[in-house]
Amino acid sequence: MEIKFEQAKSLKEKPTGALGFGKYYTDYMFVCDWDQGIGWHDARIVPYAPLQFDPASMVLHYAQETFEGLKAYRAKDGRILLFRPEMNARRFANSNIRMSMPTLDEDLFIEFVEAIVKKEQDWIPTNEGESLYIRPFMFATEPAVGVHPSNSYKFMIILSPVGAYYEEGVNPVKIYVEDEFVRATLGGTGFAKCGGNYAGSLAAQVKAEKLGYSQVLWLDGVHRKYVEEVGSMNVMFKIEGKIVTAPCEGTVLPGVTRDSIITLLKSWGYEIIERHLSIDELMEAGHSGKLEEAWGTGTAAVISPIGELYYKGDVVTVHDFMTGELTQKLYDTLTGIQWGNIEDSFGWTR
Ligand code: COI
Repeated sequence: MEIKFEQAKSLKEKPTGALGFGKYYTDYMFVCDWDQGIGWHDARIVPYAPLQFDPASMVLHYAQETFEGLKAYRAKDGRILLFRPEMNARRFANSNIRMSMPTLDEDLFIEFVEAIVKKEQDWIPTNEGESLYIRPFMFATEPAVGVHPSNSYKFMIILSPVGAYYEEGVNPVKIYVEDEFVRATLGGTGFAKCGGNYAGSLAAQVKAEKLGYSQVLWLDGVHRKYVEEVGSMNVMFKIEGKIVTAPCEGTVLPGVTRDSIITLLKSWGYEIIERHLSIDELMEAGHSGKLEEAWGTGTAAVISPIGELYYKGDVVTVHDFMTGELTQKLYDTLTGIQWGNIEDSFGWTR
């Protein structure tokens, strides 16, 4: 598809110092429109600017919105690397189907991502651990307050130079096991990357922070018993040498990092068990010393070690509140591949 380009009148000053996560945005953004009967049209790269749209736009009322997250990395030899963007493209399509939104051809998704990243390549930061976070998203624009799938949408991509997602960096965090709110339930939208999932998770996050915890551990929505995710990340546990993680059966987000970590672990000979792990079994494994390491996986933070679990007054400390050897090795290997410092024998980067 042809992508039109509109030149910005002036360019922004690039940030210096710590980037944090999602604080800065680049000079341009990608926009493409979808209309019933026409399909996708008017792909364009335009100066980054506020949007103007009708207050009745359906996204503002019924939350038809989906998004993705991936990163562009600057390798030491100057190459720009993307990490498995085809997985984001596929998940985006699945999210859109779940939310009754139009899909975007997976090749077009990657073409659009590559176009804006190439245009903004000077924004890819080069300091250790820094990258350009890519946020594709789609939302309903039909001005209508009757409940139905919108007949018009915008697909956009914005870019943000980022450093560490959590202030803690790759250091253990304290986790509050949430037993009141749930994130997802079978038949719901847990597997889709839609804004509503995140809106619904905030109350638990706020509660956990008030109690002195960084994130929540989500239990399943039916039994309030089985471990599903941690904060906005997938979660994995090393119990007696084996890796246990929740299966992707509709309530858990099929993470790109999750899949990559599982593949890495298998290639190192680890047994991966995708099963419903009960919180009682997990706490018991913590007390008996069987729980050796625990970590969250996600694009933004990559790997986030879990140092402590709090559940109904019971506290388990994991690996003496230090980053475990396997957790660190996973982080080093995955980021090594992502930044092009370690040979990518899986063919993940492009
Ligand atoms: C990720 O781990 O990449 C996430 O899903 C967090 C993101 C919503 C900022």
